[in-house]
Amino acid sequence: MTLKLKPLHPLFAAEAGGVDLRKPLDEQVVREIDAAMDRHAVLVFRGQPLEQAEQVALARYFGPLDAGLRKATGAPTRFNYDELIDIGNVALDGSVAERENTKLIGVLANQLWHADSTFQDVPVKYSMLSAVVVTEEGGETQWADLRAAWDALPEKTKRHVEGRTGRHSAFHSRIGLGDDKYTDEQLKRFAPVERPLVHVHPGSGRKVLYPSVHIDRVSGLTVPEGRLLVAELLEHATQPEFVYTHTWRAGDYVMWDNRSTLHRGRRYDLTARRDLRRTTTLERDAVRAVA
Ligand code: OGA
Ligand code: MN
Repeated sequence: MTLKLKPLHPLFAAEAGGVDLRKPLDEQVVREIDAAMDRHAVLVFRGQPLEQAEQVALARYFGPLDAGLRKATGAPTRFNYDELIDIGNVALDGSVAERENTKLIGVLANQLWHADSTFQDVPVKYSMLSAVVVTEEGGETQWADLRAAWDALPEKTKRHVEGRTGRHSAFHSRIGLGDDKYTDEQLKRFAPVERPLVHVHPGSGRKVLYPSVHIDRVSGLTVPEGRLLVAELLEHATQPEFVYTHTWRAGDYVMWDNRSTLHRGRRYDLTARRDLRRTTTLERDAVRAVA
């Protein structure tokens, strides 16, 4: 065993060491990381500053890469690779983005509980964030353990939820934040996707409660009933006992499984530079609703 693991929370999340992520990974280490992801769902590597090319090469060990919402918005990027997703508040010219810069809407929407890209047809698996510049205050990222959330759900609620699907829509949370100027073409490009509100996590065989801020309706319920149910399930799943909070240091590299966790960023002073870069892998054996 090359990978060294130290739990960061009683239920999930571990600090991982013993590997240099800038060097090529051998197959055995990739398998160990996959196994640790199945068990812990969030892995934190410290002291691993990565160049753009290194970050993309590293992510490819874990599957084909996704380019995120830029596929629909066509927004320009400050990176050399389409596979690097910009999570910071840095403008194209390298300055801290002005408050009115439209790219900040995505940054702000990330402060709502979600799993990445559940609104797209092809589901994603891991997301991996590399911290280049972090803020002194705020800007933490939190993850919630959705397997523990399912286990702790009252039986009656389990019965109410199981068998239902949620409709995940790319623009729902953004529209909720007042960003509603999408063209029909953009809206069509990301038609909503139905996913079960409860699924089985392939790597651990455990059941997962799967609410998200991306869900705009729930099968078998009216729109307001569905939205209230999602709010109730989010409140349940994100209770402090299910949540790990990560305080970033530059050089941190955090991987998480989007099929078994939710995450959100915390508020920070938008005039302070925050430069975080994400890669996300596509899932090969998709968990899809048979609605
Ligand atoms: C993400 C995300 C939250 C944050 O990278 O997908 O939601 O803290 N990040 O920036
Ligand atoms: Mn995210």
